[in-house]
Amino acid sequence: MIILSTIEELRAQIASWRRAGDKIAFVPTMGNLHQGHLQLVEVAKSHADRVIVSIFVNPMQFGQNEDLANYPRTLDADVAGLTQHAADAIFTPTPQLMYPRGLEVQTFVEVPQLGDLHCGANRPGHFRGVSTIVCKLFNLVQPDIACFGKKDFQQLAIIRQMVIDLSLPIEVIGVATERASDGLALSSRNGYLTPAERAKAPALYQILQQVKAAIAAGKHDYRALEQQAKAELSAAGFVPDYVNISNQHSLALAIDATEQKVVLAAAKLGTTRLIDNLEL
Ligand code: PAF
Repeated sequence: MIILSTIEELRAQIASWRRAGDKIAFVPTMGNLHQGHLQLVEVAKSHADRVIVSIFVNPMQFGQNEDLANYPRTLDADVAGLTQHAADAIFTPTPQLMYPRGLEVQTFVEVPQLGDLHCGANRPGHFRGVSTIVCKLFNLVQPDIACFGKKDFQQLAIIRQMVIDLSLPIEVIGVATERASDGLALSSRNGYLTPAERAKAPALYQILQQVKAAIAAGKHDYRALEQQAKAELSAAGFVPDYVNISNQHSLALAIDATEQKVVLAAAKLGTTRLIDNLEL
């Protein structure tokens, strides 16, 4: 596997694959790879001849009081995992390479509406940071296909919309959430949980499953179900941020029984913010 750390190296590698007629799939990550990321690589491989993974802890998507400095950086283990899963290349730029003029003066990409809901409401600037870096990486890698986890359901929706709005010739593939055997969605942030918090954490998914079961049983007072789920999260030791039963496409709060829905949730367990969702 090739490790590319400059834009020149990256462009030369992509050009050589293009000359060979290879189809290129891209998996953007912030590193600290777990089984969920490696599954993205597997799905990417099944759609393309070449798979390139970026590892970049993107400062632009972290808020002032968020965990940028402490975000786990585990490059050696990540390289080992990607080698085992036969990725073809890793792109590991530095913040200086991606934002040479600094974040304050960086041109940005923002997807309105979708970026303001749910996580966007409590993490101002987060999705602007995500769409800006993903757009830059798309321009650098110019892949045919890009894979993203459905665990970040809102992020996936925003990237799909950005690709449409900016006419980017990239097929975006959403990949099912990988879960631990007790149901907890895999996330790099799970590593922050204390053993006691880790034991409580699967309640988030269980509560989403209860919401799904209630709707399947014909309950359609969605706002009441959301309140009930938040109360259950509090009882399970979380500080809930939101539980929203939303339209799968617009992400607006669902009103109508005929809409395709997803239940999205974010809650804090101690100092760790967990998110999860379930398509209905
Ligand atoms: O999902 C992530 O890890 C990040 O938000 C992404 C898409 C790599 C952009 O930094």
